[in-house]
Amino acid sequence: MIKFIIDLWRSNIIIAATKLDVFDYLAIRPMTAEELAEQTDTHAASLYRLLRALASLNYVEKIEKKRFQLTPKGQLLRNDVPYCVKHCILGCAADTYEIWEKLPKAVKTGKMVDDSLFGQDHYGHMKNHEEELENFAKANAELTLALCPIITEIYDFSRFKHIVDVAGGNGAFLSLILAKAQNAKGTLFEVGPMIELAKRNLAKTSVKDRCFFEKGNFLESVPAGGDCYIIKNALANHDDEALKVLENVRKQMKSGTIFLLCQAILPEINKPHIAWQTDLLFFMVVNGVERTEEDWLQLISKAGLKLNKITRIGYFYDIMEILL
Ligand SMILES: C[S@@+](CC[C@H](N)C(=O)[O-])C[C@H]1O[C@@H](n2cnc3c(N)ncnc32)[C@H](O)[C@@H]1O
Repeated sequence: MIKFIIDLWRSNIIIAATKLDVFDYLAIRPMTAEELAEQTDTHAASLYRLLRALASLNYVEKIEKKRFQLTPKGQLLRNDVPYCVKHCILGCAADTYEIWEKLPKAVKTGKMVDDSLFGQDHYGHMKNHEEELENFAKANAELTLALCPIITEIYDFSRFKHIVDVAGGNGAFLSLILAKAQNAKGTLFEVGPMIELAKRNLAKTSVKDRCFFEKGNFLESVPAGGDCYIIKNALANHDDEALKVLENVRKQMKSGTIFLLCQAILPEINKPHIAWQTDLLFFMVVNGVERTEEDWLQLISKAGLKLNKITRIGYFYDIMEILL
């Protein structure tokens, strides 16, 4: 039990150093606490204590002349490196910290905590907080780049001509898919502010000429013309809303259209799975849920669709292949 408490402290040490850009500055060159304090606008003696704690966790190491340098683990917390998780720390840990604090209240009242925290829904809140939105988009992209190459390895996307990623975030997944589906174009469907981030992000990729963008609300409609529709990690909505989204996708499907849902599938109770935690997070943030296989089956058939095949990936997402 003590480990849980210590892990919470350790998480906060890593969050603090990430927020202070310690890892980005140490990537430039090894520095003493005094040199780094100047760059990060911090108090040198206190920063030294933070660096010692980070060294004990193997994120930095002390070298000669009282300098600290990044370890391979610390490298992952700086910007612009393959498998960077800096924005996961900022977007998933730091920005959700206030939310987790409200779990007792959410359990007591049965209500999502957003009203007291943001005064509006989470996505509505982020629309007006550009930095949080960008961290959130980059965090999702980092998770995608770390966890989803396996999806494009095992699922054959090369047969499709037009792939529509509904609520596709900043386009990280669509870019992985289009790299495999060389003859396909892709449409990224998202809410307005996210579309702008996606345009900027995809413009840097080798698939940019095959990417198209459509702004909208999946509760109202989704783009027409896809032979493959994808929703990944964006259907935590409660059942009424999730049903509406599935029905909107169904309206655009023809015989032969494939609809891929990449979402967690809850195991039996007593079995460990990350989705037991995200279920609570989604409850607090968007009044959402994670679902069991049975829950998904019911929802999919209520939307007039057929679950054809499940491919278990196991950690964050599984793949559900859905047909008309
Ligand atoms: C958890 S993120 C996942 C993004 C991406 N699919 C991924 O896996 O990285 C959920 C996404 O759903 C989008 N979204 C939320 N409500 C939406 C709506 N009503 N219509 C379209 N997109 C929406 C958000 O902007 C956000 O990018």
